[in-house]
Amino acid sequence: MLFKTNKEHEELRKAIREFAEAEIKPVAFQMDQENKFPDEIVKKIGENGWMGIPYSTKYGGAGKDVISYAIAVEELSRVDGGVGVILSAHTSLGAYPIEAFGTEAQKEKYLKPLASGEAIGAFGLTEPDAGSDASGTQTTAVLEGDYYILNGGKIFITNAPKASTYVVFAVTTPGIGTKGISALIVEKGYEGFTFSDPYDKMGIRSSSTAELTFNNVKVPKENLLGQEGQGFRIAMQTLDGGRIGIAAQALGIAQGAYEAALKYAKERIQFGKPIAQQQVISFKLADMATKLRAARFLIYSAAEMKQNHENYGMESAMAKQYASDVALEIVNDALQIHGGNGFIKGIDVERFYRDAKITTIYEGTNEIQRVVIASHLIGKAPKKKGKAQAVKKDGPITGVRKRHMIKADTAKDAVKELVEHLKKDGYDFSVGIPIDTPIADAERVVSVGKGIGSEEFMKEAEKLAHAAGAALGSSRPVAENMKLLPLERYVGMSGQKFKGNLYIALGISGASQHLKGIKDASTIVAINRNPGAPIFKNADYGIVGDIHEIMPLLAEALGTGEKKPAPPMKKVRRSKPRKLAPNYGVYVCPGCGYEYDPNYGDPEGEIDAGTTFEKLPDDWVCPECLEEKQNFVQADFPADRK
Ligand code: CAA
Repeated sequence: MLFKTNKEHEELRKAIREFAEAEIKPVAFQMDQENKFPDEIVKKIGENGWMGIPYSTKYGGAGKDVISYAIAVEELSRVDGGVGVILSAHTSLGAYPIEAFGTEAQKEKYLKPLASGEAIGAFGLTEPDAGSDASGTQTTAVLEGDYYILNGGKIFITNAPKASTYVVFAVTTPGIGTKGISALIVEKGYEGFTFSDPYDKMGIRSSSTAELTFNNVKVPKENLLGQEGQGFRIAMQTLDGGRIGIAAQALGIAQGAYEAALKYAKERIQFGKPIAQQQVISFKLADMATKLRAARFLIYSAAEMKQNHENYGMESAMAKQYASDVALEIVNDALQIHGGNGFIKGIDVERFYRDAKITTIYEGTNEIQRVVIASHLIGKAPKKKGKAQAVKKDGPITGVRKRHMIKADTAKDAVKELVEHLKKDGYDFSVGIPIDTPIADAERVVSVGKGIGSEEFMKEAEKLAHAAGAALGSSRPVAENMKLLPLERYVGMSGQKFKGNLYIALGISGASQHLKGIKDASTIVAINRNPGAPIFKNADYGIVGDIHEIMPLLAEALGTGEKKPAPPMKKVRRSKPRKLAPNYGVYVCPGCGYEYDPNYGDPEGEIDAGTTFEKLPDDWVCPECLEEKQNFVQADFPADRK
């Protein structure tokens, strides 16, 4: 497929390049350093008519072609990869599915403001257990009357929380795999739809990326995009186009790095001549230019195919994979050419180097792009029926937990009941560890989240940590944004995972990174005034209440007096959910020794407690090693022998 950019394309390139040089370049480093979303710049991009480049003027778009859109992302990314992805995620992920699958009413209501730049769009597909395997979606949407009730969460969502319109993928019919997934348009502001703080990323720091949480969010049924069950196809088709955008982003970042390196190489004199005159550098520049040209051809060719409504899924995967792979090589060479100067903050190539990396990861890792390309060349790898579905994880991030919500008439009674449970579980509150024990070594941690409010309440938290015999920790925002504790006290950062026994989370909603950081805790207690906070699904005991009221009561109940030094930590056995009446047979996996115990079922495989081995679906497989059900052997001991 050949193509040639036309005069209109090149005029658009010129206009966007001038805009990017004048408006973005001067503040790009500052935005990077401050992790600052460019609200004003995005507004101006909208005013220039570039937020809806490939969409019809009928819906507020510019009515241009897909190559024009790729050029826009490329030119913005040439100066700032963060601004490039804001446009890319908005246009090809936020707006496209509405344009391609929306009803007339949906296009009027949602596409118009997106394409005209009045609103920003985003795409909610990725979840903790649904990354490369996008079919692993666990967010659910249950139709009740005129609304879908949406529950679950999404991670790594570009443009959150800035976007006002989100295309969200959720399971509407469980148990039937990808055909049970549907797409819904969800507005920011719907009750129960909340956001985490944006991530602190390595690169593209001017863009905003955050987690979405849905707690019984009522989504009007007219916001269903396409038909029920069409969601996975909508997601895949959307990503086919999105990959052109990410390829263009990678190309733009690499182009910016190449131009900086070329300029530097011509100016930098060593051994009596510009380093560009050294063959070793000139060859690097030659290779960089060749790779850029090849990437650009691949991208514009895929864009042209999309424009012509040809099948372009393979070509967009090729463009994304190649452009981002060579972008990493090009930014690396560009920094190398800059020598030590390139390693200093404030020099563009340092930022380009960091910005480029994500392009080999998001909108499908480059490994997935190769899966897509290969499946077009040689057909899809056959799937073993049932297996993928059976091992899908549905449990909370922290594993199987008691999830005992304490309900009492007063906060004091709730606290009393909690302390009784903890003592029954073996916790001795006459002993304690120093409050500043490193998180990774602590036997107990009392941890505060944003619910703490302000510094004045930290004294109360310290008092509680002392009463619980625990070290004091926090969630990421409390250390990073509110700066109430040093960074080394935030739980979930690498090297700061809590592996001890008791974790008491106060006013922490439960971002996935935090939950991963406490998954090895023996007992998790959650206290939060929001009953929908994800932490509750990940806790053994929960109290819905105001932490400012509960902290002093809990400290009092645990005892504020002197604590004896705690003995060396002995790991408390993880509490298991209450058993149902025993006496069903246990079956053992011949592959790995896993025991299927009907008292627990297989929560990760959506098998309820109480399901006998015989009643398991035929395609159920061992959750540990995928051994097939038929190979399990009956144990010669009863289920209640443990
Ligand atoms: N277009 C339309 N339909 C498609 C399709 C496509 N490109 N690809 C697959 N489908 C359909 C298939 O035809 C199939 O339908 P039938 O059952 O009717 O045949 C169905 O979808 C399932 O297809 P597969 O069996 O091939 O699906 P799979 O589960 O094996 O997944 C995969 C394939 C390519 C690995 C896919 O999971 C994938 O693309 N994973 C990567 C996910 C990804 O890119 N995530 C990015 C998140 S967004 C993001 O990153 C944004 C950002 O930050 C900027």
